[in-house]
Amino acid sequence: AAEKAALKERIKRLLKEREAVLVAHYYVDGDLQDLAEETGGCVSDSLEMARFGRDHPAKTLVVAGVRFMGETAKILSPEKRILMPDLDATCSLDLGCPADEFSAFCDAHPDRTVVVYANTSAAVKARADWMVTSSIGLDIVAHLHAQGKKILWAPDKHLGSYIQKQTGADMLLWQGSCLVHDEFKGIELDLLKAEHPEARVLVHPESPANVVALADVVGSTTQLINAAQTMDATTFIVATDNGILHKMRAAAPGKHFIEAPTAGNSATCKSCAHCPWMAMNGLQNLADVLENFSNEIHVDPQVGKEAVRAIDRMLDFAA
Ligand code: 13P
Ligand code: SF4
Repeated sequence: AAEKAALKERIKRLLKEREAVLVAHYYVDGDLQDLAEETGGCVSDSLEMARFGRDHPAKTLVVAGVRFMGETAKILSPEKRILMPDLDATCSLDLGCPADEFSAFCDAHPDRTVVVYANTSAAVKARADWMVTSSIGLDIVAHLHAQGKKILWAPDKHLGSYIQKQTGADMLLWQGSCLVHDEFKGIELDLLKAEHPEARVLVHPESPANVVALADVVGSTTQLINAAQTMDATTFIVATDNGILHKMRAAAPGKHFIEAPTAGNSATCKSCAHCPWMAMNGLQNLADVLENFSNEIHVDPQVGKEAVRAIDRMLDFAA
């Protein structure tokens, strides 16, 4: 514990010395989330991370999350130095949507407006008309649908089909999924609900349709935390990465949170719903990158110029 406290102090000192700011996602280690808040950085969902990084005057951002978050920060602020604790922290959605195959898919459907989820590479974003995050995807697709647009959606099939059902839009879906949320199980969740009839169910829309169907609230990480805080209930079943529980418990003290069941989530596996790539962010590698200015994210400037249009459209829409 003393070692941990010393490491945290070192990070705080380095952030000041390096004039850097820490931007963290709710799925990373709780210590990193706390550090981000305590030092004037931010801990948030993907949309807010992007906006905060773009608007903050610091010349160096350290993004504690996964690669697409660092890339988005770089695309929005090419003049800033963007560092990440581990450059190998990726995402199954990003991995499952290679730019060349995606581009061929778009070429085969030129009549469709291309909407991609934030969880993609810079090259995939460069091919898109719009980028969206889970907090705003539904509103943007509803807006496009109202204009009579047909949509090509990638890569998350669950989020895509949820938005499709909600909006009635004509959506052609890429068949990707998040390896964490894909594991939540509808039948087991139904049984758990029966055990806790008073509980409210909070679900991230990267989860399968039969899990989303049991939700009281479907939303981004920030939206789920807000729901936990404001809803008139004391027990919640949470179907998203369990890194979120750190903030939920702090935001709603006295309330009780239960992890939704996954395939491996049994008496012997209490914490299966945790992203292995988010888990690559730690205090030690965070301190190291600040010390050495190592692990800098680079995005090809031409790709960045093309990708920024899709991201700016979303940010303008959200404004
Ligand atoms: P949000 O925080 O935008 O809901 O995204 C969830 C996610 O999958 C990040 O990896
Ligand atoms: Fe990707 Fe899922 Fe991990 Fe988020 S939790 S980074 S969507 S694999």
